[in-house]
Amino acid sequence: MRLILLGCPGAGKGTQARFVCERYGIPQVSTGDMLRHAIKEGTPLGQQVKSIMQQGTLVSDDIIIELVKERIQEPDCKNGFLLDGFPRTLPQAEALTHEGVTIEYVIDIHVEDEEIIHRMTGRRFHPGSGRTYHVDYHPPKQAGMDDETGEPLIQRDDDKEETVRKRLEVFHAQTKPMMEYYLKEFKSKGVPQFHCIDGRAKVSEVTKEILAILDGGVSCPS
Ligand code: AP5
Repeated sequence: MRLILLGCPGAGKGTQARFVCERYGIPQVSTGDMLRHAIKEGTPLGQQVKSIMQQGTLVSDDIIIELVKERIQEPDCKNGFLLDGFPRTLPQAEALTHEGVTIEYVIDIHVEDEEIIHRMTGRRFHPGSGRTYHVDYHPPKQAGMDDETGEPLIQRDDDKEETVRKRLEVFHAQTKPMMEYYLKEFKSKGVPQFHCIDGRAKVSEVTKEILAILDGGVSCPS
């Protein structure tokens, strides 16, 4: 299975990706996680993208497309993958098509901007694994600690309110038009299936809805 999870920053893509990947035994390909890892390791890529991410703007298409092209050629992607945070611009979506990658499902998790600010400022993150929590909505068993390793959780640099607002602005300007690309593809060819779901529901309800689509091929409401 090859699918894309779309949605604004904080819509819940990373949270839901983990459940889907576990269910279908496919890897989560998160461009944000890959870039954060590069920053943590101090690689040339990390040094190049650090300030861009801190500002909440987008890394250049060339860098990102190359990163994803290489990643999806790795053996664990042979039977499918879930793209989280990619594509984010029209050239990125077109590059995927150009590479001959067939996507079966595009799922857009929709949440209004006002809700996002609360979500992001309450988000906590386990740097080692990428596991994500929220202090109110999805708390760890022990406050401030990762459920599986017991290691401390951190707050991401780009989760400060002013940066979140910038990321939302970038999303509306650059990523929303890209979503139209898949909606149009779906309307004209029926592939990939395009589904828009309400991301304001509880984490478990959103998961249920996504798995119902993937398990049962629920028809597109658009
Ligand atoms: P990236 O890491 O991709 O960030 P993002 O898309 O902005 O999305 P997030 O990871 O912040 O949010 P999410 O939707 O995964 O939400 P989550 O599940 O964590 O990108 C970061 C940066 O990298 C970009 O700004 C850019 O600079 C660069 N970059 C990355 N990809 C790029 C690309 N393709 N092109 C160019 N640049 C790129 O949930 C958020 C919080 O809400 C959590 O605390 C969670 O517990 C909680 N939550 C989740 N679901 C619910 C729910 N249903 N109810 C209540 N709370 C919930």
